Order: sequence, then C-alpha cells, then structure tokens
Amino acid sequence: MATRTTTSLDRTRIEELTLREQDRLDERTPQSRATYERARQALAGGVASSYQLRDPWPIYLSHGKGSRVWDVDGNEMVDFHNGFGSMVQGHGHPAITRAVQERVELGTHFAAPTEDAIVVAEELQRRWGLPKWRYVNSGSEATMDAIRVARAFTGRDTIVKIFGSYHGHHDAVMISIGVPYAKIGDREEYASLRYGEGIPEAVAEMTIPVPFNDVGAMRRRIERLAEAGRLPACVIMEAAMMNLGVVLPEPGYLEAVRELTRELGIVLIFDEVKTGLTIAAGGATERFGVTPDIVTLAKSLGGGLPSGAIGGTEEVLEPVASGRVYQVGTYNGNPLSMAAARASLEEVLTPDAYAHLDALNDRILAGCESVIERYGLSGYSVGVGAKGCVTFSPAKVVDYETFLQNQDEGLTDLAWLYAMNRGIFMTPGREEEWTLSVAHTGEDCDLFVSVFEEMADDLTSSVERRPRAGGGR
Ligand SMILES: Cc1ncc(COP(=O)(O)O)c(C=O)c1O
Repeated sequence: MATRTTTSLDRTRIEELTLREQDRLDERTPQSRATYERARQALAGGVASSYQLRDPWPIYLSHGKGSRVWDVDGNEMVDFHNGFGSMVQGHGHPAITRAVQERVELGTHFAAPTEDAIVVAEELQRRWGLPKWRYVNSGSEATMDAIRVARAFTGRDTIVKIFGSYHGHHDAVMISIGVPYAKIGDREEYASLRYGEGIPEAVAEMTIPVPFNDVGAMRRRIERLAEAGRLPACVIMEAAMMNLGVVLPEPGYLEAVRELTRELGIVLIFDEVKTGLTIAAGGATERFGVTPDIVTLAKSLGGGLPSGAIGGTEEVLEPVASGRVYQVGTYNGNPLSMAAARASLEEVLTPDAYAHLDALNDRILAGCESVIERYGLSGYSVGVGAKGCVTFSPAKVVDYETFLQNQDEGLTDLAWLYAMNRGIFMTPGREEEWTLSVAHTGEDCDLFVSVFEEMADDLTSSVERRPRAGGGR
C-alpha cells in the first residue's frame, strides 16, 4: 500500500468554520428568508417537495442560464446541483428552448400519441439496445411501473433492492434508505425498514434489501427466499449508486448479478433515473457493458420537463403490449416533454457532448484529488460521466454500511457551505453528487476546485500532518 500523509483535523476547527460559514450564508440570503416566511403560509413546510427543505430556510432560485443559476437575492452561482441531476443539457439550451416554443404553439397536451414520442423511443432503442419503450412522468412512476411489469411477467410478489438505494417515493421502494446504523440488521438478513410514515408494513415486507457490491450476499438471500417459496420477481438497482455520493460497481459485480438473475429467472431492473443520459449516451448500460431486462429513465430525459420512460426486452414488456398490465397515465408521452426530449437527444446529448462531459469530469476529479493529497485530507474523489463527488472518508465506500461507518458528516456539510458562499450551487444533503452540464466550462470546474482548496487550507493551516497507509481508493 502506498503511504500518504494525512492531516489530523481539529474537530473544533471544523465546528468554528461551520458556524462562520453558516452565518455568512444567512447574511447572503435575506430574500430567501423572506420568501420562506411567505411560502410557509401556503406550501406545507414552505417547499414543493421535502427534498427542497433546508435549515434555517431553503435557497429560492429565480432563474438559470447555461451553467449558471441566480437566487432571489441575486447571487450568481455555477450550478453543480442541476436539478438533482436533471439538467445535463444546461439551463435554457437554445435547441430545447426552440423545440418547446414551437410545440407550445401547436398544442401542449392531447393524451394521444404524437410523432415525437416514436422518434424518442427509436433513439432510446438505439442507445440502450432494448426494443420496447413506454413513457411516464417521473422517476418514481418509472420504477413503480417497472416493478409491476416484473411482477406480472414472473407472477411473483417479492422484490429485491439494494440497501440504502433510492428509487423514488412509492411504497414498494421507500424501504431501507437513510437508516441509522444500529437498525440495519445483520448483513445476511438486512431489515425491511419503512422510510417515513404512511407505508403499510405488509408492503414493506415484500421488499428485501441486500448489500451493494456483494453478489454472494444477494445469492444467499435469494436462495433463502426461494426456499421459503418467495423467489423474487425482480432485482431493482442502480448500476452505480448515486445517493451515497457516487459508489461505483466493483469489477465483475454487475456481470455476476446479471448471471445470477438470468440463472434464477428474476427480472433485472437497472434504475437509470440518474445515470441514464448523464454518464454515457446509453447510460450505465453502455458504460458498464451489462444489459438488464428493464431500464428506468427520468430526470435528464426531458431536458427540464417532467418525463420518464421504461425500456425492456420484447419478452418482459409483453404483459404491457398484450394489455395484461395497464401501463397508463394521462400525461405519458406529453407532447411538450417529448419535443424537449427529442431535441435533447438529437441535438444536445451528442457524442461530442459526452466527450466534453468526460473531459470536464476528469479535470474536476483530478483537481479535487490533488487538493486532497496536498492537504492530506482523509478522502477521495470519485465519479463517472457528468457525475462525481469528494467522499470524505478514511476508507473506500462500497455500500451503505461502509458509507455510514466512514463518511465524515461534518466535513461534508462544511464543503457544502463553502461552495454555496463562493458561487457554487450544490445539492443540499450528504448523499448527493455534482452533475455537470454540456454548458459547463473548464473554468467552472476550476472554480469548484479552488473553493475546495480554500476550505482545505482553512482547515489545515497550523495543524500537524502525519503519515498513514493507503489512499481511500
Ligand atoms: C435512482 C433514482 N430513481 C428514482 C428516483 C425518483 O425520481 P423522481 O424524483 O423523478 O420521482 C430518483 C430521484 O432522485 C433516483 O435518484
């Protein structure tokens, strides 16, 4: 193992800097505070979705252009949040703006199919190598429908998911996410725990969580389920976890999951709501070279308009084609979303765009890694395609357990505050990653790195460094 110098950080210093930066952000956002006071009178909690909450108040945005957004106080920021990874096209891309404007004039909704819906499906077919597609309006709808299709196809009820993974807000998948360490249970028999209230226990019991990056544990759990007469309908998973920062699949893992699910006749669903269209033209399926039976898309599919899709093999989507499963929705394939998706696929997310995103991500990841090394921080940078993060951890995070055991929450929170106070808009929360857009530039990435360096400098000035074994990766 290589020896690397790591700095022992003073926790009091982290707390001092956090308080200082917190005050600074409060001072910079008085209009967000006033907007929050008003919003609370009409919106539950003052926001449109609980994921927009933040203490002491959320940052309210007014507009965006290219790689930038502005908040209601007029603070200009480079957007690394990008609508929780939806805006890989950047804000107000001319091709998408034009397509949407043209479509508005021609009627925005019919609940009848339009040509754009066919063109988009043909392009998704090509990118994913999966022959049959349907539309939805969000990632949650996509995973909900994918699971129903898998259940209909197999005639089974139980489903398997990865512990800690997020697949949307419907009952079947709001299970075993964001759980304190003590509650996880034994690794071989992880608990099925409801994420928030209002989810029936009977539904929770049908969802079985297993660890990421451990096909042995998955196989053993599935075999025990089979012995109990509960062979699962599907395994639903992200090929790379995108809600513990970024956790990449270990070499051979996805291939082994593919083999296992094929062997046992279990539908493999890759939830590509985050990875689809951001980490390669054909998402994780292309990037990692493993094709599932069903993929789910949403977020960046619509270039900022609500949309989603499920794609699958002829065989697995037969229950939809034959009408055994009602895969339905008034706004499915909405003309405005489809016009935006078509323009995005044909004109924006081209091979050049992916080359640009890869080059930018290499630059920002290398920049962050260099800061980590020079300042002896305990952590590493990790990413793929448009996605990446710095994981503050003395050990490599490979699954939910290693994330909970190792992620330095204080440093993660501090990094967010430093970013927000220095012109970088980042997702709130300790589980997210950055998303770059085609509008981002090398200078945008350099700004991110320089802000990170400023934090590293403030943290380590006048503290001693000592050698330790191994890097995070
Ligand atoms: C992997 C994954 N699947 C599904 C969803 C749900 O998507 P939506 O919020 O559009 O319902 C998300 C949202 O973050 C996600 O990250």
